[in-house]
Amino acid sequence: MYRTHHCNELRKAHIGQSVTLAGWVHTVRDQGGVIFLDLRDREGLTQVVFRTEENADAASLSHKLRDEDVIQVTGRVDARLSGTENDKLGTGDIEVVCTAVSILNKADVLPFQLDRELSNEDLRMQYRYLDLRRPRMNKNIRQRHKITAAARNYLDASGFIEVETPILSNPTPEGARDFLVPARLSPGHFFALPQAPQQYKQLLMVAGLEKYFQIARCFRDEDLRADRQPEFTQIDIEASFVGQDDIIKLVEGLLVSMFKAGMERDVPAPFQRMTWHHAMDQYGIDKPDTRFGMTLIDLASVFAGTEFKIFKSTLENGGVVKAINAKGFAGITTGQMNRLNELAVQAGLPVKTLAFIKCENGEYKSPLWKFFTDTEKAALISTLNIEEGDIVFFVAGEWESTCTILGRTRLEIADMMDLTKGSTDLNFLWVVDFPLLAKTDDGSWTAVHHPFTRPNSDDIALLDAGDYAKVRAVAYDVVLNGYELGGGSIRIHEKDLQAKMFSVLGVSEEEQQIKFSHILDAFRFGAPPHGGLALGLDRIAMLIAGESSIREVIAFPKNNKACDLMTDSPTKVDFKQLRELYIQTTAKEKKAEGPGSAPESK
Ligand code: AMO
Repeated sequence: MYRTHHCNELRKAHIGQSVTLAGWVHTVRDQGGVIFLDLRDREGLTQVVFRTEENADAASLSHKLRDEDVIQVTGRVDARLSGTENDKLGTGDIEVVCTAVSILNKADVLPFQLDRELSNEDLRMQYRYLDLRRPRMNKNIRQRHKITAAARNYLDASGFIEVETPILSNPTPEGARDFLVPARLSPGHFFALPQAPQQYKQLLMVAGLEKYFQIARCFRDEDLRADRQPEFTQIDIEASFVGQDDIIKLVEGLLVSMFKAGMERDVPAPFQRMTWHHAMDQYGIDKPDTRFGMTLIDLASVFAGTEFKIFKSTLENGGVVKAINAKGFAGITTGQMNRLNELAVQAGLPVKTLAFIKCENGEYKSPLWKFFTDTEKAALISTLNIEEGDIVFFVAGEWESTCTILGRTRLEIADMMDLTKGSTDLNFLWVVDFPLLAKTDDGSWTAVHHPFTRPNSDDIALLDAGDYAKVRAVAYDVVLNGYELGGGSIRIHEKDLQAKMFSVLGVSEEEQQIKFSHILDAFRFGAPPHGGLALGLDRIAMLIAGESSIREVIAFPKNNKACDLMTDSPTKVDFKQLRELYIQTTAKEKKAEGPGSAPESK
């Protein structure tokens, strides 16, 4: 037996007992020739003291111990000397007086210290197994386990059956690029790693399983962000004979249980529901952060009779004039203003700068102010509640892009003003009534969620009439503090409607046969009505842990170039291996750029 107790177990009640502990040397202190060390295991720390009078050999060996050596210590639990107790440690009242020590493994000097925050993320990733020894990372990984276990228990108790679906599979359209895997036994053919188990879970409904879930690994080759990884985990759910409300209720219960397990918070349910149109109109985004206001105000009534050309023509052409009031932000710096303009342009602002009005020292400062009549000015001030110290940003144009630009601006200002810093709010909400389809730049139509999403039955006539922009989906996203935690829908379960949906999306009949015959076929044989949702487990774990990147809750994440710096993957493969796969690459070798340098794209 390596140990009798863990390092966060011994208390005053153990005083006098002989114990054996094992773990890592966390810190060593030499106090007048006597060595004190903190021994660490995954549960915590215990102070060990080496006294010559107890065991001269052990005391002598203790001088050779270094940080992160792995040791086993046997000793007697003693009370710490009065005044030397440490109330920050669970074991702070006691120490173990060593009677025997053995070094299980020596450690070299570490590339970084574990008790300091390290800003060099590449170094952390390269030595991730050391990084994971830090208490913060240890807590995150264990908290993730608790959340996952709670989800499994909740779904099991609700009658859901966990089924594993293939990783080597066919492409599933979820909006990202596929990762492909060459199939040696079918030369020239490739598997795609699943972007989500979407089609398999629907096929499980056709199979009569009725309630499925999976803690599913998904793979998407897309641009990375703090809340996106190329491989990530979903809590994937599907059920038969359900409607939107059934899934929403189930998922609310699931999230309540996960947040209780992860952070001991009692989340109130049901969550607020908001239509997609309302979310866009008021917050300029389909995943609104409602922890602060600064909502988008429509100024159509203020400028109904305006002679100010830009606003007039925008309103006459069916566009909107909208604004947000950043209260108390008139002191915005030039740098911040430049940043807002840059983001607004990225979000689609057709001019270089955002129009604004500042209220400073009782004056309204704005390049636009002189174009407004006194009535318009008064209406503007009252509609937007403009007060001393405020700054208002305006955008005029087509509704959706105007909302998007102001929504982006709103979030950035909130960040600049630290509006959510220190907030402990958990603002869960559902966004419902999404549009089914969106028009792409080349004029074709794409599915807002995915092609298996059911159109709202009230809007089927619009679909038949080709009025695609107005068709609503029976789709719902669950959002927390501005993060999309999950999304789902009720599905199409009829062959003809599914085929119609594919053709609206420009998938020819021939292509439907090649790519989707399995699902179209399955729908011929008694497919039940069904629907589901998938939650992003990494994002939930990140928010529960209070982290701002999902990398902090994934044991071995990829960096922002989608590389694993620890194993140095992806790697080149040798010619022989490629030949076996009938693959020839045309990638040119890039000059060494240090870790993460990828081959040029083909
Ligand atoms: P969706 O594409 O919305 O839906 O994905 C569901 C949830 O998965 C998380 N997520 C990600 N997390 C980390 N890194 C990524 N790259 C990433 N992409 C998505 C998000 C998201 O809300 N098959 C459908 C679900 C369904 O219809 O049932 C799907 O995958 O939290």
